Amino acid sequence: MKDPVAQETAPERPRPALVLRGVEVFDGLVAPAEQAALVEDLRALIGAAPLFSPMTPDGRPMRVRMTSAGRYGWYSDRRGYRYAPKHPSGGDWPPIPARVLAVWRQVTGLARDPDCCLVNFYGEGAKMGMHQDRDEADFSYPVVSISLGDDALFRIGNPTRGGATESVWLRSGDVLVMGGAARLVYHGVDRIRPGISALLARGGRINLTLRVVD
Ligand code: SIN
Ligand code: MN
Repeated sequence: MKDPVAQETAPERPRPALVLRGVEVFDGLVAPAEQAALVEDLRALIGAAPLFSPMTPDGRPMRVRMTSAGRYGWYSDRRGYRYAPKHPSGGDWPPIPARVLAVWRQVTGLARDPDCCLVNFYGEGAKMGMHQDRDEADFSYPVVSISLGDDALFRIGNPTRGGATESVWLRSGDVLVMGGAARLVYHGVDRIRPGISALLARGGRINLTLRVVD
Protein backbone atom coordinates (compact mmCIF):
# COMPACT_ATOMS: atom_id res chain seq x y z
CA MET A 1 0.00 0.00 0.00
CA LYS A 2 1.26 3.49 -0.79
CA ASP A 3 2.17 5.71 2.13
CA PRO A 4 0.23 8.97 1.54
CA VAL A 5 2.60 10.99 3.74
CA ALA A 6 5.66 9.78 1.82
CA GLN A 7 3.86 10.64 -1.40
CA GLU A 8 3.13 14.17 -0.19
CA THR A 9 6.71 14.78 0.86
CA ALA A 10 8.33 13.27 -2.25
CA PRO A 11 10.19 16.05 -4.10
CA GLU A 12 8.14 17.29 -7.02
CA ARG A 13 9.66 17.11 -10.46
CA PRO A 14 10.13 20.68 -11.73
CA ARG A 15 8.07 21.78 -14.72
CA PRO A 16 9.93 22.54 -17.95
CA ALA A 17 9.67 26.16 -19.08
CA LEU A 18 9.59 24.99 -22.68
CA VAL A 19 9.13 21.73 -24.58
CA LEU A 20 10.58 21.89 -28.07
CA ARG A 21 10.07 18.82 -30.29
CA GLY A 22 9.72 16.77 -27.12
CA VAL A 23 12.96 18.12 -25.62
CA GLU A 24 12.29 19.61 -22.19
CA VAL A 25 14.07 22.84 -21.29
CA PHE A 26 14.31 23.73 -17.60
CA ASP A 27 15.22 27.42 -17.60
CA GLY A 28 17.85 28.42 -15.03
CA LEU A 29 17.23 25.31 -12.95
CA VAL A 30 20.77 25.48 -11.52
CA ALA A 31 20.96 28.67 -9.43
CA PRO A 32 24.02 30.96 -9.81
CA ALA A 33 25.67 29.91 -6.51
CA GLU A 34 25.19 26.27 -7.45
CA GLN A 35 26.69 26.94 -10.92
CA ALA A 36 29.81 28.40 -9.26
CA ALA A 37 30.08 25.34 -7.00
CA LEU A 38 29.72 23.09 -10.04
CA VAL A 39 32.56 24.94 -11.76
CA GLU A 40 34.77 24.19 -8.73
CA ASP A 41 33.79 20.50 -8.98
CA LEU A 42 34.68 20.58 -12.68
CA ARG A 43 38.01 22.26 -12.04
CA ALA A 44 38.98 19.29 -9.85
CA LEU A 45 37.53 16.84 -12.38
CA ILE A 46 39.50 18.33 -15.29
CA GLY A 47 42.64 18.35 -13.09
CA ALA A 48 42.27 14.58 -12.67
CA ALA A 49 41.08 13.86 -16.22
CA PRO A 50 42.35 16.63 -18.55
CA LEU A 51 40.34 17.85 -21.55
CA PHE A 52 41.42 16.39 -24.89
CA SER A 53 40.38 16.87 -28.53
CA PRO A 54 38.96 13.63 -29.91
CA MET A 55 39.28 12.75 -33.59
CA THR A 56 36.15 12.10 -35.61
CA PRO A 57 36.07 8.67 -37.32
CA ASP A 58 37.00 10.41 -40.60
CA GLY A 59 40.14 11.81 -38.99
CA ARG A 60 39.29 15.43 -38.19
CA PRO A 61 39.94 16.86 -34.69
CA MET A 62 36.68 17.86 -32.97
CA ARG A 63 36.33 21.58 -32.23
CA VAL A 64 34.91 20.86 -28.79
CA ARG A 65 37.37 19.65 -26.13
CA MET A 66 36.13 16.85 -23.90
CA THR A 67 36.61 14.72 -20.88
CA SER A 68 34.27 12.56 -18.77
CA ALA A 69 33.42 11.33 -15.32
CA GLY A 70 31.80 8.09 -14.26
CA ARG A 71 32.20 4.40 -15.07
CA TYR A 72 32.60 5.26 -18.74
CA GLY A 73 33.85 8.18 -20.76
CA TRP A 74 32.74 9.03 -24.25
CA TYR A 75 35.51 8.68 -26.80
CA SER A 76 36.05 8.98 -30.53
CA ASP A 77 38.88 8.20 -32.93
CA ARG A 78 39.43 6.49 -36.29
CA ARG A 79 37.79 3.36 -34.86
CA GLY A 80 34.53 5.21 -34.26
CA TYR A 81 32.39 6.64 -31.47
CA ARG A 82 32.19 4.62 -28.27
CA TYR A 83 32.36 4.55 -24.49
CA ALA A 84 35.77 3.83 -22.99
CA PRO A 85 36.47 2.56 -19.46
CA LYS A 86 39.64 4.72 -19.15
CA HIS A 87 40.81 8.26 -19.94
CA PRO A 88 43.20 8.33 -22.96
CA SER A 89 46.08 8.80 -20.47
CA GLY A 90 45.24 5.33 -19.08
CA GLY A 91 43.77 6.53 -15.77
CA ASP A 92 40.26 5.97 -14.43
CA TRP A 93 37.59 8.58 -15.09
CA PRO A 94 36.85 10.50 -11.86
CA PRO A 95 33.49 9.94 -10.15
CA ILE A 96 30.51 12.03 -11.26
CA PRO A 97 30.25 14.98 -8.84
CA ALA A 98 27.40 14.70 -6.29
CA ARG A 99 26.01 18.08 -7.37
CA VAL A 100 25.70 16.81 -10.95
CA LEU A 101 23.95 13.62 -9.83
CA ALA A 102 21.52 15.76 -7.81
CA VAL A 103 20.41 17.53 -11.02
CA TRP A 104 19.91 14.17 -12.78
CA ARG A 105 17.77 12.88 -9.90
CA GLN A 106 15.77 16.11 -9.74
CA VAL A 107 14.76 16.15 -13.41
CA THR A 108 14.45 12.41 -14.07
CA GLY A 109 13.12 11.14 -10.74
CA LEU A 110 15.01 7.92 -11.51
CA ALA A 111 16.62 5.68 -8.89
CA ARG A 112 19.23 4.65 -11.48
CA ASP A 113 22.16 7.07 -11.69
CA PRO A 114 23.96 7.79 -14.96
CA ASP A 115 27.16 5.92 -15.88
CA CYS A 116 28.76 8.77 -17.78
CA CYS A 117 28.99 12.53 -17.45
CA LEU A 118 30.49 13.86 -20.65
CA VAL A 119 32.12 17.27 -20.20
CA ASN A 120 32.24 19.37 -23.38
CA PHE A 121 34.19 22.61 -23.45
CA TYR A 122 33.32 25.15 -26.16
CA GLY A 123 35.83 27.95 -26.72
CA GLU A 124 35.16 30.81 -29.12
CA GLY A 125 34.22 29.42 -32.55
CA ALA A 126 33.49 25.90 -31.27
CA LYS A 127 30.34 24.16 -32.45
CA MET A 128 28.93 20.67 -32.71
CA GLY A 129 27.33 19.21 -35.82
CA MET A 130 23.89 17.61 -35.85
CA HIS A 131 24.00 14.09 -34.37
CA GLN A 132 22.03 11.57 -32.32
CA ASP A 133 23.18 10.27 -28.94
CA ARG A 134 22.97 6.58 -29.78
CA ASP A 135 26.03 4.85 -28.35
CA GLU A 136 24.06 3.75 -25.26
CA ALA A 137 22.46 0.32 -24.78
CA ASP A 138 19.00 1.36 -23.55
CA PHE A 139 17.22 4.36 -25.08
CA SER A 140 14.45 4.22 -22.47
CA TYR A 141 16.78 6.24 -20.22
CA PRO A 142 16.87 9.96 -20.99
CA VAL A 143 19.92 12.11 -21.69
CA VAL A 144 20.21 15.12 -19.39
CA SER A 145 22.29 18.16 -20.32
CA ILE A 146 23.46 21.02 -18.08
CA SER A 147 24.74 24.28 -19.60
CA LEU A 148 27.32 26.48 -17.85
CA GLY A 149 29.00 29.70 -18.98
CA ASP A 150 28.40 31.37 -22.34
CA ASP A 151 25.11 30.98 -24.22
CA ALA A 152 24.77 28.35 -26.94
CA LEU A 153 22.45 28.19 -29.92
CA PHE A 154 21.10 24.65 -29.66
CA ARG A 155 19.37 23.18 -32.70
CA ILE A 156 16.81 20.38 -32.50
CA GLY A 157 15.76 18.34 -35.51
CA ASN A 158 13.99 15.02 -35.91
CA PRO A 159 14.52 11.34 -35.06
CA THR A 160 15.87 10.90 -38.59
CA ARG A 161 18.46 13.11 -40.28
CA GLY A 162 17.22 16.20 -42.12
CA GLY A 163 13.89 17.99 -42.15
CA ALA A 164 12.81 21.13 -40.33
CA THR A 165 14.63 22.20 -37.18
CA GLU A 166 14.04 24.61 -34.31
CA SER A 167 16.63 26.37 -32.19
CA VAL A 168 16.82 27.68 -28.65
CA TRP A 169 19.50 29.71 -26.88
CA LEU A 170 20.71 27.75 -23.85
CA ARG A 171 21.99 29.88 -21.00
CA SER A 172 24.08 29.15 -17.94
CA GLY A 173 22.06 27.05 -15.49
CA ASP A 174 19.64 25.69 -18.09
CA VAL A 175 18.98 21.95 -17.98
CA LEU A 176 17.61 19.98 -20.90
CA VAL A 177 16.10 16.49 -20.96
CA MET A 178 15.97 14.39 -24.12
CA GLY A 179 13.75 11.46 -23.25
CA GLY A 180 10.82 9.41 -24.50
CA ALA A 181 10.04 10.11 -28.16
CA ALA A 182 12.71 12.84 -28.12
CA ARG A 183 15.51 10.55 -26.89
CA LEU A 184 16.91 10.07 -30.38
CA VAL A 185 16.30 13.47 -31.95
CA TYR A 186 19.14 14.95 -33.96
CA HIS A 187 20.67 17.92 -32.17
CA GLY A 188 23.72 20.16 -32.36
CA VAL A 189 25.24 23.47 -31.32
CA ASP A 190 25.54 26.09 -34.08
CA ARG A 191 27.59 28.61 -32.10
CA ILE A 192 28.23 30.15 -28.74
CA ARG A 193 27.99 33.80 -27.74
CA PRO A 194 31.48 34.40 -26.40
CA GLY A 195 31.97 36.64 -23.37
CA ILE A 196 28.31 36.73 -22.35
CA SER A 197 28.85 34.99 -19.01
CA ALA A 198 31.40 35.65 -16.26
CA LEU A 199 31.00 32.16 -14.76
CA LEU A 200 34.18 30.74 -16.30
CA ALA A 201 37.25 32.86 -15.56
CA ARG A 202 38.59 32.50 -19.11
CA GLY A 203 35.18 32.47 -20.82
CA GLY A 204 33.61 29.78 -22.95
CA ARG A 205 30.90 27.25 -22.31
CA ILE A 206 30.79 23.91 -20.56
CA ASN A 207 28.05 21.43 -21.29
CA LEU A 208 27.59 18.31 -19.20
CA THR A 209 25.61 15.40 -20.62
CA LEU A 210 24.55 12.54 -18.42
CA ARG A 211 23.82 9.13 -19.87
CA VAL A 212 23.03 5.61 -18.72
CA VAL A 213 25.43 3.57 -20.84
CA ASP A 214 24.83 -0.16 -20.26
C1 SIN B 1 26.02 17.13 -26.99
O1 SIN B 1 25.08 16.92 -27.76
O2 SIN B 1 26.82 16.24 -26.66
C2 SIN B 1 26.26 18.49 -26.43
C3 SIN B 1 25.08 19.38 -26.48
C4 SIN B 1 25.41 20.75 -25.93
O3 SIN B 1 26.59 21.12 -25.93
O4 SIN B 1 24.49 21.46 -25.51
MN1 MN C 1 24.56 14.89 -28.16
